[in-house]
Amino acid sequence: MRVLVTGGAGFIGSNFVHWTLAHRPEVSITVLDALTYAGNRSSLASVEDRITFVEGRIEDAVVVDPLVAEADVVIHFAAESHNDNSLADPAPFIQTNLIGTFTLLEAVRKHGVRYHHISTDEVYGDLELDDPHKFTESTPYNPSSPYSSTKAGSDLLVRAWARSFGIHATISNCSNNYGNFQHVEKFIPRQITNLIDGVRPKLYGAGLNVRDWIHVDDHNSAVWAIIDRGEIGRTYLIGSDGEKNNLDVVTTLLRIFGRAEDDFDHVQDRPGHDLRYAIDSTPLQTELGWTPQYTNFEQGLTDTVNWYRENEAWWRADKAATEAKYQASAS
Ligand code: NAD
Ligand code: DAU
Repeated sequence: MRVLVTGGAGFIGSNFVHWTLAHRPEVSITVLDALTYAGNRSSLASVEDRITFVEGRIEDAVVVDPLVAEADVVIHFAAESHNDNSLADPAPFIQTNLIGTFTLLEAVRKHGVRYHHISTDEVYGDLELDDPHKFTESTPYNPSSPYSSTKAGSDLLVRAWARSFGIHATISNCSNNYGNFQHVEKFIPRQITNLIDGVRPKLYGAGLNVRDWIHVDDHNSAVWAIIDRGEIGRTYLIGSDGEKNNLDVVTTLLRIFGRAEDDFDHVQDRPGHDLRYAIDSTPLQTELGWTPQYTNFEQGLTDTVNWYRENEAWWRADKAATEAKYQASAS
């Protein structure tokens, strides 16, 4: 099987490449990635000789068309992925998440190639803290941010291309991922690298917002379950019952670092900050037989902390620029 992985130099995409090479050695992988600020070629350094890497943009039909033509499956991870960036400047999100997805869909339609679309639980908006319901595939779309609205728009393009043109597509909407190779702009790696640098973690508002954390390897094993056994045309939600509020995550990190539980700063809240996400992944588990492997969050977080401690060369160059960006948007 020949797979085209867009965004394979990013956090989840690079972990997908590593997971696939470890568990599915018969698969041949081509990565298409623009190496934006979020893409890091060194995330693939240990497997460079086992994959084909193409630097290019998903909105560029001249690059995309021949790569799609020679693939059996396209797995589309590439995106502008950070909510805070989308509040500072939405334009790249429109370009990559909407125009980029459109470009891939047209190539998939032309060449009749199977397509899997990676998306987010944020398309459903947010839940009250005491809402007994979780997101399911029939929850109405109600995105809050420029990021999540462009992801919602890209999902709707996929649905329309499936219904109108009959492309063979599946969609997955996953909750918050954590693990190795995640950019230091994101919550968990930002706080881990702050703690390594002796800087207090930064908690938006009161820290009561809830995210449904899943280890990135569990996300990627679910993506393979969908590619292998998913029903064409379906949407699957991916999550592993990992709801935690941000305050709990920060205090867990402080414990792992042997620091006092109140050794953090409350900072200005994110405008429009979604309160809570929660995924019901029952169909993935009962129909496709998927089960998550990382059920102990504190252990997964400890492994992630150790990875950032041991791989400072991977993240150090991005840290100062990322913090400068946060400073600039706060002022
Ligand atoms: P990321 O920001 O770490 O990586 C994105 C990758 O896409 C980078 O390598 C970047 O260079 C590449 N890219 C960006 N624009 C491009 C373009 N125009 N053309 C080609 N390549 C481009 O993102 P991530 O966190 O790995 O997220 C991957 C996907 O998973 C996204 O679609 C995101 O919406 C989705 N998702 C993420 C999470 C999460 O918790 N991180 C959860 C659910 C879904
Ligand atoms: O739910 C899936 C989504 O999860 C993905 O679609 C996105 O691509 C991914 O970035 C993530 O979005 P969030 O906005 O939830 O993730 P982020 O890591 O930015 O923030 C997680 C929570 O932590 C959120 O409630 C905001 C808060 N936060 C974040 C930062 C960067 C802080 O309290 N302090 C911080 O410094």
